[in-house]
Amino acid sequence: MSPHEETGKPAPLPSRRFSTLAIHAGQEPDPLTGAVVTPIHLASTYAQEAVGEHKGFDYSRTRNPTRVSLETTMAALEGAAHGVAFASGMAAVDAVLRLLVPGDHVIIPDDAYGGTYRLVSSLYVAAGVSFTPVALHDLDALSSAWRERTRLLWLETPSNPKLNVIDIAAVSIAAHAHGARCIVDNTFATPYLQQPIALGADAVVHSSTKYLGGHSDVVGGLVVTDDDEFARHLGFVQNSAGAVPSPFDCYLVQRGLKTLAVRLERQCESARVIAEHLCDHPAVGEVYYPGLKRHLGHELASRQMSGFGAMVSFTLKGGEAAAMRVAAGTELFTLAESLGAVESLIELPAKMTHSSVAGSELEVDPALIRLSVGLEAVEDLLEDLGVALSLAR
Ligand SMILES: Cc1ncc(COP(=O)(O)O)c(C=O)c1O
Repeated sequence: MSPHEETGKPAPLPSRRFSTLAIHAGQEPDPLTGAVVTPIHLASTYAQEAVGEHKGFDYSRTRNPTRVSLETTMAALEGAAHGVAFASGMAAVDAVLRLLVPGDHVIIPDDAYGGTYRLVSSLYVAAGVSFTPVALHDLDALSSAWRERTRLLWLETPSNPKLNVIDIAAVSIAAHAHGARCIVDNTFATPYLQQPIALGADAVVHSSTKYLGGHSDVVGGLVVTDDDEFARHLGFVQNSAGAVPSPFDCYLVQRGLKTLAVRLERQCESARVIAEHLCDHPAVGEVYYPGLKRHLGHELASRQMSGFGAMVSFTLKGGEAAAMRVAAGTELFTLAESLGAVESLIELPAKMTHSSVAGSELEVDPALIRLSVGLEAVEDLLEDLGVALSLAR
């Protein structure tokens, strides 16, 4: 990172393409040594020439050079002015929700990530905020959900775990007409496949634990926005609440970003092959993958995304018992929570990632399995699934 001498901000890298920005934005060779990789700045504090006079950094919770470098890269990749990094995806979600004050209302998807639902329905409800879960692909359902004090419309697209596709441009227009901000959790798509700010969203949230990091070795979160006032709010929360990622974690996420495009190209292609294969399997009920022509959101995804992602969900005709056997029956697909990394993962959302929505209106079908397709040879992945699916009958 080479902060601009006067402003302390990295110099901009205008009009480059995605893969170039992923490798260069905010990552100029270190001016001191020429190192081509952003140094991991571990210092917690910085020498000041005189009281309040410094090089843009005074204390590492407030501002850290490795973190600024990552934030700059992510802002460039989402096509926005500001990136703000957090210690986890949930810390990023929380930083956005802190816009809400008692009496405010937020609309969330009726299949929101379980952790987001838990945060809103427990801590924010306890703080006097109300919420309405809505099937956001149904614009009529959305039109009756607005309240006088609706401040935020939250959406995930493709959603987790049913991979519903939401029209970002349409719901952003609706949010703005009601004086609310539209926030997109872009964790499943990543900026490589979808850029919500260009479609009208006010901010983008990421669990960088997933595709951005990409190697199952870091937990992190990011918020990106073009809105200066909102960016000030996020920076204030980042510094005041202090849920900041370590410099090493910032380095890991930034390293992951450099290969995001090539990883996703291959992962999306393998996911398509697997989804099509599942459609033909006699033990499988529904297959949810936006790349399938029969998927409800296929046409919208074709317009809104540049690829269909690498997440595939499906149900087993044999119900929960069959799903449990299949999820425990793979060898290469590791039975584990999380997603987006080089390793393929399999999980049962109702019992794992989405157990926090059990008994609520967001409850997930217990026969649903979610796959995160990784970078192994797709032929091996198909064989592995074939063996596990034989246990379903
Ligand atoms: C869509 C989505 N958003 C947010 C999160 C939370 O991220 P983290 O686990 O990094 O806190 C997750 C985690 O699985 C997720 O899937």
